[in-house]
Amino acid sequence: MSVITTERQGDVLVITSDNPPVNALGAAVRQGLEAGIKEGVADPSIKAMVITCAGRTFFAGADITEFGKPMQEPGLPTLIEMIEAADKPVVAAIHGTALGGGCEVALGCHYRIAVPSAKIGTPEVKLGLLPGAGGTQRIPRIAGVKLALEMTAKGDPIPVKVAQAAGLIDRLAGEDSLLADAIAFAREVADTRPLPIASQKTATPDPDAVAAFKKENARRFRGFDAPAANIACVEKAADGSSFAEGIAFERQEFMKLMMGVQSAAQRHIFFAERQAAKIDDVPADTKLRDIKRVGVIGAGTMGGGISMNFLSAGIPVTIVEMQQDALDRGTGVMRKNYEGSAAKGRIKPEAVDQAMGLLTPTLSLDDLADCDLIIEAVYENMDVKKELFGKLDAIAKPGAILASNTSYLNVDEIASATKRPEDVVGMHFFSPANVMKLLEVVRGAKTAKDVLATVMALGKKIRKVPVVSGVCPGFIGNRMLSQRQIAANEMLMQGATPQQIDKVHVDFGMPMGPFQMSDLAGVDIGWHRDPTRIESIRDALAAEGRWGQKKNAGFYDYDEKRQPSPSPRVAEIIEEFRAKSGNEKRDISDEEIVERTLYPMVNEGAKILAEGMAQRASDIDVVWIYGYGWPVYRGGPMFWANTEGLSKIVAGLEKHGYEVAPLLKEKAEKGERFA
Ligand code: 3HC
Repeated sequence: MSVITTERQGDVLVITSDNPPVNALGAAVRQGLEAGIKEGVADPSIKAMVITCAGRTFFAGADITEFGKPMQEPGLPTLIEMIEAADKPVVAAIHGTALGGGCEVALGCHYRIAVPSAKIGTPEVKLGLLPGAGGTQRIPRIAGVKLALEMTAKGDPIPVKVAQAAGLIDRLAGEDSLLADAIAFAREVADTRPLPIASQKTATPDPDAVAAFKKENARRFRGFDAPAANIACVEKAADGSSFAEGIAFERQEFMKLMMGVQSAAQRHIFFAERQAAKIDDVPADTKLRDIKRVGVIGAGTMGGGISMNFLSAGIPVTIVEMQQDALDRGTGVMRKNYEGSAAKGRIKPEAVDQAMGLLTPTLSLDDLADCDLIIEAVYENMDVKKELFGKLDAIAKPGAILASNTSYLNVDEIASATKRPEDVVGMHFFSPANVMKLLEVVRGAKTAKDVLATVMALGKKIRKVPVVSGVCPGFIGNRMLSQRQIAANEMLMQGATPQQIDKVHVDFGMPMGPFQMSDLAGVDIGWHRDPTRIESIRDALAAEGRWGQKKNAGFYDYDEKRQPSPSPRVAEIIEEFRAKSGNEKRDISDEEIVERTLYPMVNEGAKILAEGMAQRASDIDVVWIYGYGWPVYRGGPMFWANTEGLSKIVAGLEKHGYEVAPLLKEKAEKGERFA
């Protein structure tokens, strides 16, 4: 059956797309739409047309899998021009998400009707692109420059109500009567002339809005090419240029972005993120366990943050602490976080009580007996964890999933403390756990497939990006991080400063460098707590109470506004260690910092892959993007390694005395890339 079908409803021609899962506008869809419009135009008994989609959504955009290949006719811009030029009204009937090219098709139609739950947007910027089928030119002409900037350069879809107020939607349909309402609307406007045509409208320039928008979003856009290109196109739409000139400019900018490495990286991550949810030997139809209530042990920063994910998703949580004051403090922080979000308008005020109402604080582990999933977020110590899992084994109901939030301990050993290792799994959240999107799901040797599938699905439900890791110290993320940390510390001892090393990482696009990260996380994390035992720079800092931001002193000094400045005391400590080590002090170039911190991460990534600890290179990329803020426009460490050139990475590693991972070496020699 064709993906596009046409059906006459009296004098209205209904053109329906059925191209699951999201009605992407691939070649067959475009060709079918073209034929449908031609049919409607040619038939004198037809007075108006409706374009609608079957399944879960209106067109969610161009077919991204076609990008980079020769485009089959008709291209999207041509198709949209043809719709706009039809001499009979064409009505777009929208449900689900009209995104990207889908939104642009709708804007090429003369009228748009949508169900109240629909959303409209141009998220191309998130793929390193811009709406390249007239979106940057038609949106400002209909909705003004200000909203056009928001929609194109930020890329978040807008609700129908907002779209309607801005003129992007003409009419609301009943939630369950879209097609009937669209046909009625088409009949109503069948004789209206002239037809409203977006490309014939004029947009008013708004330089103040542009300047304010750029200023507000400078941080968000740092390092990305696409936002500026989106802004330039929107400005072009309102600068007095003709529509044709605007379209030509949009096309030129679109092609520049499409050919660039940033968009390739961002498209890679789009698919990598979805691929990561799939586990090679776990069938997609594996029956999931029902998770109605979650238990969390530990009401500290981590336990509280973890709990919030479930509460926000409407899943009740029982949270356990050992002391009443710690429990009160923990739940108090959670409430404050929710209130903060409400004050910033991120959630509705009533959502605070809704979420907190789902929380049951307790001092007794026995209260976890009715939980379907129990996540432990206590002190990182194997003995403590094993003792706890032994207790949980006795308390938890049969079939309950027992998870550890450990960030580097052996999940198999933890599981061995229970008589049900098949129910044990690692769920490694990243701090702050209610914000960071990564969830490393650690698959133990005996973890059951349905446990794994359940945790992956649950991860998606609480809006995380779950990635599977095998059991190895630090799993995927922290194992690679430790390579970076070791190298950064070595360089301190050879003449580099924390500021210099951090700056190189920030310039690369990371949110912060290794020492800024230590200060934020706490220099004392994992410290042996003996102030007389000073074996490293970090020991020396910890012994002096320089525990990072929380003490206003760490690798940096902090003022009362938490603004960092280089610390003379830290410089002294580093100098003492360097002198003791006998290292020569020398200038270390920014290039060397990249080669010695980032190349070893790629090297470790290759080992992780070869050992089967990650299923695929792209999973490693997803871990680094969502867990550590690796710049998405560089596509993650393994994608970046491809763009850098694997031979260059091997040469750099060898130059600095690293043992190169066999897989990396082999790929470099064969001229291959990480897939
Ligand atoms: N092209 C090709 N495949 C797509 C696609 C697209 N535009 N959008 C989604 N898919 C695929 C996904 O890869 C996934 O495949 P899989 O099942 O094999 O993994 C499947 O459709 C379902 O997608 P999700 O898992 O993401 O489903 P959700 O229901 O969670 O989300 C969605 C649906 C909101 C539509 C989301 O998929 C999405 O945001 N898609 C991308 C939208 C987008 O960026 N559109 C702009 C494209 S660029 C463009 O239009 C250029 C034009 O201006 C010229």
